[in-house]
Amino acid sequence: MRPSDLTRFKKKGQPIAMLTAWDSLSAALAEAAGADVLLIGDSLAMVALGHATTLPVSLDQMLHHTQAVARGLTAMPADQPLLVCDLPFLSYQCGEDRAVAAAGRLLKESSAAAVKLEGAEPEVVAVIDRLVRMGIPVMGHLGLTPQAVHRLGYRRQATDAISQERLVDQARTLEQKGCFSLVLEHVPAELACRVQQALTIPVIGIGAGDGCDGQVRVTADLLGLTAKQPPFSPALVDGRHLFIDALKGWVQQTRNNTLPTTESPQLAPDC
Ligand code: KIV
Repeated sequence: MRPSDLTRFKKKGQPIAMLTAWDSLSAALAEAAGADVLLIGDSLAMVALGHATTLPVSLDQMLHHTQAVARGLTAMPADQPLLVCDLPFLSYQCGEDRAVAAAGRLLKESSAAAVKLEGAEPEVVAVIDRLVRMGIPVMGHLGLTPQAVHRLGYRRQATDAISQERLVDQARTLEQKGCFSLVLEHVPAELACRVQQALTIPVIGIGAGDGCDGQVRVTADLLGLTAKQPPFSPALVDGRHLFIDALKGWVQQTRNNTLPTTESPQLAPDC
């Protein structure tokens, strides 16, 4: 998978499935499920590192997790999903040179083939322009942008006519500046359809209705592992309780000395 392959998906009307991954286990699951794109999202700050927001995660940590994700993939390189890594907060907001160095490092020191960054403020657009010209593929992200949580909260975005026009303009600008795709998070479904039709690059939605060119979800949300589930991303399975019950059973059996003898037969003769 290459970034440009996603445009082919859009042309063919083939929906894109993108899942987040944060370590080799989650990567192996998402790859085995057939995801086209694995996003090493900065949501890993909350999912894997226990932070309350995405803001604290560092570039070094994103790199460390991206390398772990790549080690979890088992398909031949040509058949592996595309790896896209989020540029964390303050790695691209402090000037173009720093942004190129941060994004370049992710591509040089891991198997990520693209970066994602949030927003379309003039400074961010200038960074995207520079990254694309330097050969670094960029996925945009508009609507609810969690790095701006202190300004926007986690509310649905672009709910009035003025902000909807602004978002459509911003989406067009990101396409013009060379983004190869765009994530739209928590916006009205009709607006997402409008953006999908206005752009030739694929629009990948989360909490944005089913009219996008693809969908992205935080894998831990789908598996019901996160303590707080976003309203627009219901779990497919109650993983938390499933796994807690399984582990409780093991703890009880260990305490009662009733573990099945087949658990580690190779150890039995020496015990
Ligand atoms: O960080 C993340 O997981 C994301 C997705 C919600 C799109 O940006």
